[in-house]
Amino acid sequence: MKSHRDAIRKGQESGDYVPGVMNYYSLMSDLITLCSGPFWHFVPMFKGVSRAEAHSRFHHTVTRYLGAGKEDTVLEIGCGYGEMGRQVAKISGASVTGLTMADAEIVGGNERIKDAGLDDRCKIVQGNYHKTDFQDASFSKVFGIYTLKYSSDLDAVFGEVARLLKPNGRFLSYEILVTDTYDKTNPEHQEYVQNISTCTCMPPLWPAQAMRDAALKAGLVPVVEEDIGAVPNARPWYTCFTNGIYQILACPLLLPFFRCAETMRLLPPAFTDWFENVLVHPTVDFVRAGRLGIISGTVVMTWRKP
Ligand SMILES: C[S@@+](CC[C@H](N)C(=O)[O-])C[C@H]1O[C@@H](n2cnc3c(N)ncnc32)[C@H](O)[C@@H]1O
Repeated sequence: MKSHRDAIRKGQESGDYVPGVMNYYSLMSDLITLCSGPFWHFVPMFKGVSRAEAHSRFHHTVTRYLGAGKEDTVLEIGCGYGEMGRQVAKISGASVTGLTMADAEIVGGNERIKDAGLDDRCKIVQGNYHKTDFQDASFSKVFGIYTLKYSSDLDAVFGEVARLLKPNGRFLSYEILVTDTYDKTNPEHQEYVQNISTCTCMPPLWPAQAMRDAALKAGLVPVVEEDIGAVPNARPWYTCFTNGIYQILACPLLLPFFRCAETMRLLPPAFTDWFENVLVHPTVDFVRAGRLGIISGTVVMTWRKP
């Protein structure tokens, strides 16, 4: 937890969260995959539809909104192990390059590409999406899923995406965003939103308007803005937590019990601190903030480069 806290403090002081994000994902990539599977984002859930099927539908939805086809060269920014990019490649036939920062993600992602037999048209490379080494107009489509929440400089990212897109190219972003319902004077709202950011080493979550403004400044033209989870039959995007894990983690006796076990040396020192900050907080705060409607996890936004 010390490296995590140091990284958050440095991010807050400098506005550069990149080293902290690298540290977080070096520590957490395998644990996140173990707990939540290959996709590190929430998707709309539906009654009678399994989680795997909901994710599969989401892959098709993203591919459709992106308008990806066989002839496209696609860049996925902040790709994790590149699971989403591989799905887009499989569905559309496009070539997909994933860009991410943590070494573990690049090695693990490229192994998965090879295992899927997609190494003739997919790869993962290391880079920071605020400023990349790609040439101007290298891609016809760019997308990012749950990754701009790690940026503290949306103008830089949108400027870079606009540079990388070919004319008439498209950018799709699917993010956790702060909604208009958020009241910055309400301490409960503040606490949930702030906990989500600090526990996962992120800068403050962005309001949707900040995304619109940055896109406009970069010269991109809005095409679609839609909450794909706000449809009849949909269950809340945080449903994956409320099926059991939330009830356990929100139990007020859990942390005192762990602290006691730590004192009796039945658990390693600082276990409770790690458990509370890395598991309890983000989970409980996502559910409570989602229930209050102050953050949304299922907004798709797309823009076109003129
Ligand atoms: C929550 S994960 C999402 C991964 C993947 N898009 C998904 O939804 O399954 C965020 C990802 O963004 C990456 N990331 C964060 N900041 C980045 C930056 N400045 N440049 C490139 N990748 C970044 C992280 O390393 C991580 O892979």
